Order: sequence, then structure tokens, then C-alpha cells
Amino acid sequence: MLSPSDFIPKNYPKTVENGSFQWSAPSNIALVKYWGKKENQIPANPSISFTLKNCKTITNLSFSKIEKTDNFSFDLLFEGKSKESFRPKIQKFLERVEVYLPFLKEYHFTIDTQNTFPHSSGIASSASGMAALAVNFMSLEKELNPEMTEGYFNQKASFLARLGSGSACRSIKGEVVIWGNHNQTENSSDLFGIEFSELHHNFKNYQDTILLVDKGEKQVSSTLGHDLMNGHPFAERRFEQAHKNLSQIKTILTNGDVNEFVKLVESEALTLHAMMMTSMPYFILMKPNTLEIINKIWKFREQTSIPVCFTLDAGANVHVLYPANVREEVLQFIKNELVVHCQNEQYICDEIGVGAIEFTKF
Ligand code: DP6
Repeated sequence: MLSPSDFIPKNYPKTVENGSFQWSAPSNIALVKYWGKKENQIPANPSISFTLKNCKTITNLSFSKIEKTDNFSFDLLFEGKSKESFRPKIQKFLERVEVYLPFLKEYHFTIDTQNTFPHSSGIASSASGMAALAVNFMSLEKELNPEMTEGYFNQKASFLARLGSGSACRSIKGEVVIWGNHNQTENSSDLFGIEFSELHHNFKNYQDTILLVDKGEKQVSSTLGHDLMNGHPFAERRFEQAHKNLSQIKTILTNGDVNEFVKLVESEALTLHAMMMTSMPYFILMKPNTLEIINKIWKFREQTSIPVCFTLDAGANVHVLYPANVREEVLQFIKNELVVHCQNEQYICDEIGVGAIEFTKF
């Protein structure tokens, strides 16, 4: 089993003075949820997610060699404009990953980022943002060590992304990614995500329409939320359940059983919110419109037998999940019945994607 020290590099065979890279990395939506963590971004339970395609962060990393300093030297841009409010988060990330990327204080960096989804839409930009940054740093490490294999590149990118935001480690590579030790998943690890490659064709191009119910700032940061699982009265049973649900959903995703998928995914979403409602302090992140949407999805499913279901993040927005072959019917239903429950009638059409992509240079 790999340990964090396996990601500390030996001497680099090459040097590089300056350059730039550009990568996009997507958001992801968990099917079995990560909720609760230990020291050093170690998850309390394993999780699995669909990688998205359209909701992504595009990050350009420029670097130039400087005299090694005691501090990190970096400028931050968001959509081309200076964004100092990102500094504390990036500073913390650099501190956490420095031991694994020992060149960080030998360069000045300009990190220029943009998201394809609307700002403060309630869509987690930390997963896509941290994943995009991690792959950029790995591109620089690969210049310093051109022998690096693709497997190591992706594994270490996921390892680094996790240190920025847990769920970010599931945004590097693969349509479906498992993160966290799970005794029924070979090579699974608390340190990085691994690709689940047995996806049945029923799940190919699976659709995720994200209904923006409440675009306001998060009431509860996910870091605080994870903390509330420490000493939570139901924590141990929840963690056990996540292990069981992960085993089950792997079978479902392999066999293509869309109806069983619906049950498990909705139960996971409601369990996540049940944990929030039963922590101390307790909170409710669903809004009346979240419940309106859920009830309408249930009614539509009962009437049509179309296997459409919902899942939730730590917020009020609803992810509507359904197979690609019922796209037209479900989109019509969303437009006719669900859009009225969205803020400014906003929703985002997304589907399963492949992970981070490098922009090729010309
Ligand atoms: C509810 O990955 O945002 O979306 O590790 O503190 O950055 P940090 O938390 P984060 O938590 C995501 C929680 C979740 C469920 C999930 O994505 O698995």
C-alpha cells in the first residue's frame, strides 16, 4: 500500500526556467457521499462519484525561476482580473503540498483561473479548481522529471488535489471515481481517487441537469460540516453504511440496473442531509423548492416509469440524474415543471465526462 512519503520526489534530472500550462478539470457529483474526515484530508468513509463534463475550471499556470525564497511567490487572477480573496486558500494548499513538490519556492507563479459555470451558483468550485491546479503542478514536475509515467502523474495529481479539497481527488481521471479505503475495491486508497472502469453501457453519457435552487453563499462550509461528524451520534453507523452502499453501487453500475441505482442514490442524498439535520449544531440546507422538486420527480417517475432521480450536495441545488436515452422527455419535464422552482429559472445541463484535459500548445 502506498504511503504519503511515496509522493516525495528524489532529485529531479532536469531544470526548467519558465513556461506555462493550461488544464481544465471538471466538477464531480458524489453518488455515495464523503461526509466526515480525519487529519490530513483522510476521509472517514469511501465515496464514489460521476465526473462531470461541462462544469469545469480552466486554469493557466505560468512560472518563472527565481532565487529560492522563504515564502511562496504567486499572483492570482480570476477571469483575467486580480483576485486576492483566493490567496489564503491557495497559500494553505501550497503549504500542504510543498513537501511533495519541493520546487515550489524556486518559482514565481501566476495562476489564472476561470469557471464555465456561473459564479456563486452553489456549484462547488473547490473540486474543479483544486484538481486543475494539481494537474498544472504535475505538468511542471513532469518537465523536471520527463520519465514520469502517466499512471504516476494521475495518481499524484489526485493525491495533491485531495490536500486542497477532498472531493477534488475525484476530478482527475475517469468517468467514475472511487476515493477511500474499501476492502471490496482493489487498490482503493484514502490518499487518492481511482478510476472505476466497469461502467455498464446503460450509464454511458448519463445526464446530470443541475437545478439552481439557491445560488446564495453556502451557509455551512463543507470543512465545518465534515467536522460535525466527529462525535455525531450516528457517525459510526453512517460510515458502515457508506462501505455497504459502495459495494452495492459498484454491482449496480456494473450490471446496468438503473432502478436500483435510483434507490441507492436518493437514499444517499437524503442520508447526507439527515446527518446535517442531526448534528450539533444542526442545520437544514434544503429549501422549500428543493422539496417541491423532489416530490415532482417522484410523481413523474411513478407516472412514466422513467428512471430519473435526484441527488444533493451540501446545499439546496438539485442534481437530476437520468439515462441519455430519455433526455428529451426529462428535459421537457424539467422545463415544464421544475424550472419554476429554480432561482431565475436557471439550470445547467451536464453529463458524465472523462476528467482533466490539457490544452495543447501550438
Ligand atoms: C457533500 O470536498 O468540499 O459534496 O475536503 O473540506 O474540501 P473538503 O470538503 P469537500 O466535501 C464535499 C462533500 C459533499 C459530498 C461529496 O462530494 O462526496
